[in-house]
Amino acid sequence: MKLKELESCLQQVDGFEEPKILLEQYPTSPHIAGCMLYTIHNTYDDIKNKLVADLGCGCGVLSIGAAVLDAGLCVGFDIDSGALDIFKQNVEEFELSNIDTVQTDVSTIGSSFAKKFDTVIMNPPFGTKHNQGIDMQFLKTAISMARGAVYSLHKTTTRDHISKKASDWKVKMEVIAELRYDLPASYKFHKKKSMAMYPIDMMLN
Ligand SMILES: C[S@@+](CC[C@H](N)C(=O)[O-])C[C@H]1O[C@@H](n2cnc3c(N)ncnc32)[C@H](O)[C@@H]1O
Repeated sequence: MKLKELESCLQQVDGFEEPKILLEQYPTSPHIAGCMLYTIHNTYDDIKNKLVADLGCGCGVLSIGAAVLDAGLCVGFDIDSGALDIFKQNVEEFELSNIDTVQTDVSTIGSSFAKKFDTVIMNPPFGTKHNQGIDMQFLKTAISMARGAVYSLHKTTTRDHISKKASDWKVKMEVIAELRYDLPASYKFHKKKSMAMYPIDMMLN
């Protein structure tokens, strides 16, 4: 599948109806999701026939993309039942059978799914809404769940911190893409408008 086809397919995924700011419910745009999944699939061959987990799956844009790219099974994990209801409607509309969901708080998963997935993908909450450190909790959980690689989107400003953590955790970390991310208006809480455009790193662990 070409990148443009994947992107236009992901444009059909319905997003959050009433996003919960405290859960950082902003969706990954079809363009960013498409670029991320296309790279993971074509450059690293980590989707087709793989068991994939999507942490903080929201309405499912990353999970649905992985399923469309022939994941063996993609399991989306999210704390919010409202987001998972929309996820399930999306799955029905796409008529996908290689996809499932688990409602849970990712920060409490611990080692329950240790090494159960080939690949973990995610656009985690960044920890900017009284939930500082949640991005690192997601990352640690993702690393414990994956037999293979973790692909995760993070703010570039956290790159050095993540790099240090990766070395503490004895995992290899590489920035494989830099993307521009335009947060929706409700997240533009910074005084300087330009601050709302975050470059995002896609990490490989
Ligand atoms: C930035 S959004 C990403 C949504 C979706 N993955 C996407 O790419 O469009 C972060 C998601 O993490 C979920 N979330 C926030 N805190 C969570 C937690 N502690 N456990 C599980 N999910 C959580 C939110 O409900 C939201 O769906």
